[in-house]
Amino acid sequence: MPTSAPEPVLQVEGLSAGYGKIGVLKSVNLVVRPGEIVALLGPNGAGKSTLLKSISGLLPWSGAMRFAGRDMAGAQPRDCVEAGLVHVVEGHRVFTQLTVEDNVLLAGYGMPAAQRRVQVEEALDFFPEIKAKRRDKAATLSGGQQQMLAVAQGLVRKPKLLMLDEPSAGLSPVLVDRVLAAASQLRAAGTAVLLVEQLIEKSLAVADRAYAMVRGTVVLEAVASEPDLPERLERIYFGLDSQ
Ligand SMILES: Nc1ncnc2c1ncn2[C@@H]1O[C@H](COP(=O)(O)OP(=O)(O)OP(=O)(O)O)[C@@H](O)[C@H]1O
Ligand SMILES: [Mg+2]
Repeated sequence: MPTSAPEPVLQVEGLSAGYGKIGVLKSVNLVVRPGEIVALLGPNGAGKSTLLKSISGLLPWSGAMRFAGRDMAGAQPRDCVEAGLVHVVEGHRVFTQLTVEDNVLLAGYGMPAAQRRVQVEEALDFFPEIKAKRRDKAATLSGGQQQMLAVAQGLVRKPKLLMLDEPSAGLSPVLVDRVLAAASQLRAAGTAVLLVEQLIEKSLAVADRAYAMVRGTVVLEAVASEPDLPERLERIYFGLDSQ
């Protein structure tokens, strides 16, 4: 590891969590550096969403977590958002009876009004096709456009880290590419992205690094461009490899 590697924006060490008495995550270690896209992969039920929920304070956890220089022990969802950690949850639903613009404004509640206005515009700028429909009710958007709106909502606060849980679920291949391209744009703007996806190849194409989880444990950490990575992941998904 070169000494010039930047300080991680997120550092998770020995994190364990679950639902009541049901243990799911077992001593997970994970690092995201500033301006990095990290793919979090793994088969259904591996614990990817549980990990994101723990990181964003939606579930209690044990272990250690630092975010942007802060110790996050005991942090509530609100503390996480205020620290610059935004989580677009799996299956996030927008408010269909509100306009596109109001949905984005709502995501910026509590921010100073002038700053909120500016950042709403910047968030909408990522997705020109929903910006063009800003006065329309979100109900009039296609499923893919609603997904873009959900990501735009996550951007309003200019997070240091945006966690996206299956942002492409249910989208056509073209729209998947659009949503993943937004992740690349974010990286260019200095925001780190932790991306949970089922689409391995597409995720690796935009990611800098990848982790794979199986049964609540990280079983692989790799640079996304490693040539044999798709094959290694395939073995993990099909349970052929317990490395
Ligand atoms: N609310 C819950 N209560 C109890 N157990 C849960 C709950 N949510 C998830 N689990 C369990 O936790 C484990 C991990 O689930 P999780 O949703 O984190 O997996 P995932 O990797 O996100 O899967 P997927 O790819 O299907 O979204 C699974 O065994 C699941 O059944
Ligand atoms: Mg999930």
